Amino acid sequence: KRQDLDSGLDASSLNRTHTISYPQLGANRQAAPVPFQQPTGLLTFSYTPQRVLEFTDSALRYYVDPPPGADLRYGYDRWIKRPEEITRLDSLLRAVQRVMQKADATIGEGSGVKWMRDIAVVTWRGIMTKILTAPYEERDRCELNVMYVNGTLYIEEHYSDARLKEKEDLAPKQRQQTYYGYSFESWCTSSRPGLPEKSEGHPVGWGGDVDTNVQWCSVVKTKLGDNRLVIGGEVDCVRNQFRGKTDAFVELKTSMSIRNAGDEARFEKKMLKFYIQSFLLGVPEIVVGFRTPQGRLTTTQSFKTVQLPRLVRGKPGAWDPQVCFSWGQHFLSSLKSILSTPPAFAEESPDDSDIQPLPRVWRIVLAPGEGVKVSALDETG
Ligand code: A3P
Ligand code: MG
Ligand code: MG
Repeated sequence: KRQDLDSGLDASSLNRTHTISYPQLGANRQAAPVPFQQPTGLLTFSYTPQRVLEFTDSALRYYVDPPPGADLRYGYDRWIKRPEEITRLDSLLRAVQRVMQKADATIGEGSGVKWMRDIAVVTWRGIMTKILTAPYEERDRCELNVMYVNGTLYIEEHYSDARLKEKEDLAPKQRQQTYYGYSFESWCTSSRPGLPEKSEGHPVGWGGDVDTNVQWCSVVKTKLGDNRLVIGGEVDCVRNQFRGKTDAFVELKTSMSIRNAGDEARFEKKMLKFYIQSFLLGVPEIVVGFRTPQGRLTTTQSFKTVQLPRLVRGKPGAWDPQVCFSWGQHFLSSLKSILSTPPAFAEESPDDSDIQPLPRVWRIVLAPGEGVKVSALDETG
């Protein structure tokens, strides 16, 4: 890459790659903890079976206890599977726009823009989870596209066509296991608070056939260190009733039943993602359905999100949320500083033009064990 820097006039060859290194795990940390503010809900929205976004709670579901021994394979052949695609930021941006309009209408013209000026990051919860857990990630590489506009980082996931096809063409066994998670959501939810779904022609407790187009999403505001974040993500269901606050949210998860110390360590390791994913949207409760390899539900257990870090402390699969939070703070400030440096080949804009150049798109690669690579995409990238 070094020789590219001097090799000629081609603008794209001048793109330098910056590296942000992960913290060393297990090292004695002396630094002051980076606080993470409790998220507050801004608004909720739903996707219909036709995958139309609406600002309603039509896709909201209520938690109910699943029947003991429920069969997670039930309804597999009727699963309506949303095609694999990159989840663009469009619907989150529409939600943000709506929050800004509300501020204009209630506080006064210009309040929305003023509010937005303080936001450091707009992204989906899944992406923020990948960023924060990156120091602990051992397997999955992750690629992101980022734009930095008026002091706000807009972060979207990037998949190559090959990777998307790979996700679409899952091996039958993996596809089946993915379905267990959705099936558990159906067994655990109902359209009526506290009462099982009335699903004629189905076993008692079945919440309805799985359609992964349908989602209920929440957009929250929170703060990591000195960065204000606006984050959107799917919420599986609520306990009893929803009054606009995140404290009723429930996250549902499935996991293999724990039979030995190895299983336990694997589960404790997985809890890091459960914790960060839930924490980011202010979800206070995680209900885990333990299952057999054949998809039979054995037990369910409810965890309080805030208590997960204590459950793993000192154990073989231990992780420390503070490592994630201080890494997140470091990552965001490094990213902002890299992205606000003008590219080496930037031309002076002609004096007679008020036209601002389009913001650049940057590619970020989170490589397990290696660190984060940041580079500008050229116009064709
Ligand atoms: P489990 O959570 O029981 O694994 P979420 O837990 O985020 O609400 O997602 C619901 C289900 O979607 C998951 O159930 C899993 O089956 C599937 N899923 C989510 N993220 C996935 C991923 N990265 N790869 C494969 N399947 C995934
Ligand atoms: Mg979910
Ligand atoms: Mg879930």
